[in-house]
Amino acid sequence: MIRQNTSIARIVIFVLVAVTIFVSTAFGFFSYWQERSIRLKELHAELTIVSGQLSSSLALPVWNFDQQQTEKILESAMQNRQVAGIIVKEPGPGKVVAGRTRDPQWRVIPTGSDIPPHGLLSVQTPITIHDRQIGTVHLYLTPRFMKELLHSYLIRFACGIAVLNTCMVLILFHLLRRAVINPLKAVVGYALKVGAGGAEKAAIGAAGFYGELDNLRRSIEDMTHALLEAQEQLVRKEKLAILGQLAGSVGHELRNPLGVMNNAVYFLKTVQPEADDTVKEYLEIIKKEIDTSLCIITDLLDFARTRKPRIEAVAVRHLVDEALQRCAVPENISLRIALPDTLPALRVDPLQIGQVLYNLITNAIQAMPDGGTIEILALKLPASSTMKISIIDSGDGIPPERVAKLFQPLYTTKARGIGLGLTLCRNLSEANGGTIEVASLVGRGTTFAVTLPAEEPEEP
Ligand SMILES: Nc1ncnc2c1ncn2[C@@H]1O[C@H](COP(=O)(O)OP(=O)(O)O)[C@@H](O)[C@H]1O
Ligand SMILES: [Mg+2]
Repeated sequence: MIRQNTSIARIVIFVLVAVTIFVSTAFGFFSYWQERSIRLKELHAELTIVSGQLSSSLALPVWNFDQQQTEKILESAMQNRQVAGIIVKEPGPGKVVAGRTRDPQWRVIPTGSDIPPHGLLSVQTPITIHDRQIGTVHLYLTPRFMKELLHSYLIRFACGIAVLNTCMVLILFHLLRRAVINPLKAVVGYALKVGAGGAEKAAIGAAGFYGELDNLRRSIEDMTHALLEAQEQLVRKEKLAILGQLAGSVGHELRNPLGVMNNAVYFLKTVQPEADDTVKEYLEIIKKEIDTSLCIITDLLDFARTRKPRIEAVAVRHLVDEALQRCAVPENISLRIALPDTLPALRVDPLQIGQVLYNLITNAIQAMPDGGTIEILALKLPASSTMKISIIDSGDGIPPERVAKLFQPLYTTKARGIGLGLTLCRNLSEANGGTIEVASLVGRGTTFAVTLPAEEPEEP
């Protein structure tokens, strides 16, 4: 069960977005203050020039006490919408000669006091005539102008930051999704699939995984495969154990009545040597069916009685010969046996491996009802103390989709088969420290190869 916890991705995104917004906003404020101080300096410079011009145009009227002319000059200077107010004073702490300011309705009104108008910047310039100071002019600049100027700058800047933030968040989200969220989603999907029993040997897929997440993916895949393998083996062992018990008891119970029936047939044949042909034919059919049933029961009992192998050194040729004797190879099948004399002895349980060879040769014979060839080869594998025995037939072969099922208990395609022969072959080969493999081509034939421990060749 996957619980819906707070998503790590969401937390990471939230933190990244918060950090980005904080950094860009702080940067924005810093630039705003810088821009403001630059603008203020520029304005101050402009104001100094305007104030200088005003003081020189006021020099003569102030010198001549020409109040009318002074007022006129102030009036025209106030036409400049940036100017908040002008005050003309006598030198020193002197009294106000003339002044203009703006009222809350933005109208120009004369002022007789030296209360400075509400200006943002002020510049004080002396009024001189023949190098003698005859007064001072105080010029105040309205904050409105400055506000408007900075306001538009602020809007542009805020828009820029918003766009930058959005882009950064989108890029971060995209990167995070590719590098973290998508891989994690794939892992969760895989875990759910495995949990539901649908993944089998599926893989998460390497696409989109980098660095540590790729290592994580690999270890999850490996771990899952190992777990599935172990689970499969456990289920197989359990199935085989149950099957073994069942096969053992059923086989044992059936062997006695079949033995009685066999005796009865034998008795009837002996006491009725003159019976007519139909009776004789039917007795023969009964005898054949009893033999087939006994074969099936032998398979069942062999399967049920898998005991611990008793390992000893035994020649391959001996095991092959015995198996062939038991099989009774039909005449339409030709045998090719290649067992070099130089082969070392096998180190196996002769009865168990003899059983394996018998089952494989029987299957090969049954795969070629119309005749063919059986090749039995053995070779010592280089650089290991193992030997490979191959039983190759020229039968119809096995389609690839059926190959995987061959070693499953009870898998058979034969009307009279019980499908335990190959399962037994694999169990016995593995119990003797070996393996069994199959390769088949439809229309060409099948090869079963058993690899088993062999004696080390003697040092020359
Ligand atoms: N040499 C072979 N060629 C073709 N098919 C084979 C061969 N050996 C085994 N098989 C297939 O594998 C199945 C299982 O074999 P086995 O376990 O021996 O059980 P059974 O012989 O009772 O059917 C057979 O029914 C057959 O379809
Ligand atoms: Mg068989």
